[in-house]
Amino acid sequence: MKLWTFDVIDILSQYKSALSDYKFIDLFAGIGGFHYALKSFGAECVFASEWDRYATKIYFKNHHFLPEGDITKIKEEEIAEHDILCAGFPCQAFSISGKQNGFNDTRGTLFFDIARIVKFHKPKILLLENVKNLIKHDSGNTLKTILKILEDLDYHTEYKILNASHFVLPQNRERVYFVAFHNSTGINNFTFPEATYENVSLQDILDSDLSDIKIVERDDINIYKKINTPNHIFENVSCFNKPMQIGKVNKGGQGERIYHPLGHAITLSAHGGGVGSKTGLYLIDKKIRRLTRRECARLQGFPEDFIFDESKSQAYKQFGNSVAINVLQYIIQNIIEIIIKELNSHDKQTELRLADGKERIQE
Ligand SMILES: C[S@@+](CC[C@H](N)C(=O)[O-])C[C@H]1O[C@@H](n2cnc3c(N)ncnc32)[C@H](O)[C@@H]1O
Repeated sequence: MKLWTFDVIDILSQYKSALSDYKFIDLFAGIGGFHYALKSFGAECVFASEWDRYATKIYFKNHHFLPEGDITKIKEEEIAEHDILCAGFPCQAFSISGKQNGFNDTRGTLFFDIARIVKFHKPKILLLENVKNLIKHDSGNTLKTILKILEDLDYHTEYKILNASHFVLPQNRERVYFVAFHNSTGINNFTFPEATYENVSLQDILDSDLSDIKIVERDDINIYKKINTPNHIFENVSCFNKPMQIGKVNKGGQGERIYHPLGHAITLSAHGGGVGSKTGLYLIDKKIRRLTRRECARLQGFPEDFIFDESKSQAYKQFGNSVAINVLQYIIQNIIEIIIKELNSHDKQTELRLADGKERIQE
C-alpha cells in the first residue's frame, strides 16, 4: 500500500513543524480540510467559522475546535490575530461588478467578509479555494474584482487551477487556488507545485467495510465497454488517470453514469441527483454501487481516523463541499520553500550589509 493513501502526503520531514510559529483562521470551514493541511505543517488554528450545524459538529469531533457561526455577523476585531487566512468561500456574483468600486463592489457577498477581515488583520498569507468556474464567472469580472481588491489591500496574488487527480488523489477535481502574500513579506514570486502524475486509481482506495455499501440492482444497467487488463494502468497512464465511463443506467444522465475502478473517481459533489447521486456509480466486484463515506474521505485526502457524519446524506454533502487536502499540502510545501528562501536571502542581505559596513569602518 502506498504511503499517501490513507494519510496526509509524505511531507518532507524538515517541513513537518515548519509552520509551528504560524496561527491560521479557517473561514467557511466545512469539515476542516484546510485545518488538516495546515496542522500537518505545525500551524495552529485560532478561529474557525461555519454556519452549518452538521458540519460544525463533525469539525468539533475531529479537530476538537468549535467553529463560530455566520461570518457575516462576526466583527473582524473579535477574530484572533493570525498569520494565515484560509477560505474555501462560496462563489457569488458581485451585484455591482464593473463599477470598479473595488471593496464596495463586493458588499453583501461572502468575499466582502474575507476582505474586511484581511483589511483589519493584514495576515501574511491568504490561501483561498473555489470552483474553477470562478475564473470565467460574470465574464471574468468576479476574478478581476477579487484580484483588484487584494492588490488594493497590499497583497501579491497568484492563482492557478489544479486537479486533485494530478496530486496523488484518484479523483477528478479541478479547483482554482489563490495564494497571496502581504507586500510586507517581500514575497512576490510564488509558484504553484508541479503535478506529480502518480499512477493511482480508485481501486487503490476501496473500502473493505461492506456495511456502508448499497448495491444498485436495476433492469436498465448497460455496461457497454469491457476493460480486463489491469497492467494497462502502467502502460498508458494518460488514458487511465481520469474517470473511465464504461456504462450507464437509465439514460446516462447526472448520477447515472457507471465508471471503472481502474480509472479515477468523478468529482465528488455536494448536490446532484440520480441513483449515483454525489459520488457517481462504479462497477466494483461485478456489482454497481456508489462510493462509501470512507472512500469519499480518502478521495479528499482525509486521514483514516477521520470521524464522518452518521447521516449518510450529510456526510456525502460535506465531502462534496470539502477541499482536497493533498493538493493544499503540496501548495503549502511551496509556500514554506518560498518563505525559507526569502528568509535566507534576507539574512544574506543583512550579512552583506554588515560586511560592507565592516569594510567601510576598516577603510
Ligand atoms: C465550499 S464549502 C468549504 C468547505 C471546507 N473548505 C472543507 O474543507 O470542508 C463552503 C462552506 O461555507 C459555509 N458557509 C456558507 N455561508 C456561510 C456563512 N455566512 N458563515 C459561515 N459559513 C458559511 C457552508 O456551510 C459550507 O460548509
